[in-house]
Amino acid sequence: MTIWSIETSCDETALAVIKASGGLSRPKFRVLESVVSSQVPVHRPFGGVVPNLAKREHLKNLPVLFEKLSVKGFDIKKADLLAVTVGPGLEPALWTGVNFAKELAKKYKKPLIGVSHLEGHIYSFLLSKNMERNKLAGIFPAIALLVSGGHTLILKMKSIKEWKKMGETRDDAVGEAYDKIARLLDLPYPGGPEIEKAARSGKPLIVFPRPMIDHKNYDFSFSGLKTAVLYYLRDHPAKTADDKNNVAASFQEAAVGVLVKKTIKAALDTKAKSIILSGGVAANKRLRGELKKAAKKNKVNFFAPEAKFNTDNAAMIAAAAYLANLRGKKRRMAAQANLGM
Ligand code: KG4
Ligand code: ZN
Repeated sequence: MTIWSIETSCDETALAVIKASGGLSRPKFRVLESVVSSQVPVHRPFGGVVPNLAKREHLKNLPVLFEKLSVKGFDIKKADLLAVTVGPGLEPALWTGVNFAKELAKKYKKPLIGVSHLEGHIYSFLLSKNMERNKLAGIFPAIALLVSGGHTLILKMKSIKEWKKMGETRDDAVGEAYDKIARLLDLPYPGGPEIEKAARSGKPLIVFPRPMIDHKNYDFSFSGLKTAVLYYLRDHPAKTADDKNNVAASFQEAAVGVLVKKTIKAALDTKAKSIILSGGVAANKRLRGELKKAAKKNKVNFFAPEAKFNTDNAAMIAAAAYLANLRGKKRRMAAQANLGM
């Protein structure tokens, strides 16, 4: 079936058209088009996302992206299903997408399904072209690590459609920590890619705390790490590029260290066959590399989305919509409740 999807939960306006087939046992996805209009330049002067500006930009960008798809020859009349992110996210931003989707559904008489943004991230690894070769039976049970600007979650996935939250951050999300440390180092928003770049030129010489690393549970805490960096910079102001790079590298080592250790522990404790990484922070090469290495060492498969599907996009929303649609309403609601929505 052909699915058209819309994502406006934060600061990216995104539309996608995908073809989905194979059912729940062997879902296959082909991304026909995925367009993203980034609002980074609009929010950058404020050092973070301003919800009302995000709303204004989504309202402006949605018809532009829709038109872009039409010009490329995509005809919504041929869609079998429309999908839109319904949460979690910034309320004013979410509503622009939901209203736009509702109007399209009414005008073109198409079924519309609301999708969890988190489910979108979790399933984004299925969009990889080489995924078609893998049978899902070999992947599950799996542990999913979802790391974004708003969430840091460890989920146990019994199958493609059943999961349970095992742990989450008790304060800041890890992406939020990257963004806050970047601000402390006078690096622009969004901080994740900037810190990663700085860290590549630095050395992890400073030993920052790795909060909750040895706790028996699967929860995280990143605000203490942020405070430790704040105090370090107060006592040792970063005067040179090297100073900044070393702080960035040391912070990243601490954050990645905790994420890897806890995810591997969750995988071993639950006898998982795979680890599935997703969310904007999954774009981080150090995290991907270290988690992949640790998974291999422990004989666990490792899956992560293709580069372009780590940060917010609408293709992942279409993939989640396809699976949610197959699961039926009751299951869909139960899954969303599991994610605390
Ligand atoms: O998934 P996403 O696009 O939006 C949310 O759902 O939050 O994630 C955005 C987050 C931001 O905090 C951003 O700094 C972080 O992902 N991020 C990164 C990298 N690229 C994006 N963090 C670390 N390293 C990166 N390369
Ligand atoms: Zn996201």
